[in-house]
Amino acid sequence: MAHKTLSDIAAHKNQPAPLVCLTAYTASIASIIAPHVDLILVGDSLGMTLYGMSSTREVTLEMMINHGRAVMRRNGDTFVVVDMPFGTYEDSPPQALSSAQRIMTETGAHAVKLEGGVSMAPAIQTLTENNIPVMAHIGLTPQSVADGKFRVKGKSDDQIARLHADAKAVETAGAFAVVIEGTIEPVAAALTKILTIPTIGIGASATCDGQILVTEDMLGLLDGHTPKFVKHYAHMRDDIEGAVQTYASEVRARAFPGDAHIYHAPAEDAPRTKKSA
Ligand code: KIV
Repeated sequence: MAHKTLSDIAAHKNQPAPLVCLTAYTASIASIIAPHVDLILVGDSLGMTLYGMSSTREVTLEMMINHGRAVMRRNGDTFVVVDMPFGTYEDSPPQALSSAQRIMTETGAHAVKLEGGVSMAPAIQTLTENNIPVMAHIGLTPQSVADGKFRVKGKSDDQIARLHADAKAVETAGAFAVVIEGTIEPVAAALTKILTIPTIGIGASATCDGQILVTEDMLGLLDGHTPKFVKHYAHMRDDIEGAVQTYASEVRARAFPGDAHIYHAPAEDAPRTKKSA
């Protein structure tokens, strides 16, 4: 697959084939998904998915930088966006700029993502004026959920008006794309229509210009509640459990390690090589 640059992604509007996006937090997952996707997000969902935190609000800048660096070691030439964590950009545009500059210089990623619409427009504008590409994130924004209740957006006139204002504000501020999360289909469709930048949906219907899921979610690796918008393309939790059960029973039966997995003493008459030493 020909990999997409920032301008390819920014121009990807109303195309027959939507942008394909997934998350990665580690070098190994990045190396598997990179050849098949248009964009990799190092999402702050790692707080819950990888670290077992109760929300993304505990994630730190250092965590995002470390995982961003891991992904950038194995992303091939796939476009990588790193999430700005809660508490590192909301206070002021200068705070956002200093955090985003650290992410960009310390990871080598291609762009950052931050949550929020109208209220974050000044921060987005400051970053883009400083040549830091920004992917915005509106609709259901997990960093602003303090009570653990993730509510679908776009169900009231008030919410619809706010979503339209947020979408327009992030576009005007210079975001190159916007994630729309947890938003009812007609509203996601209307936002996709009024914007000139691509919309990337998660729980926001196939009307968006692209789709994103958390990789561990779509692989069926997570326990607990599965949101309605997640489709399991694999059942890795079951696969891993089956493999571990087989390993445990083979070790207990002394069936592993078998002959193929042990080092043998060199045969008496075989010449010793460096490899067999
Ligand atoms: O943190 C994340 O993984 C995200 C995606 C779910 C869009 O923001």
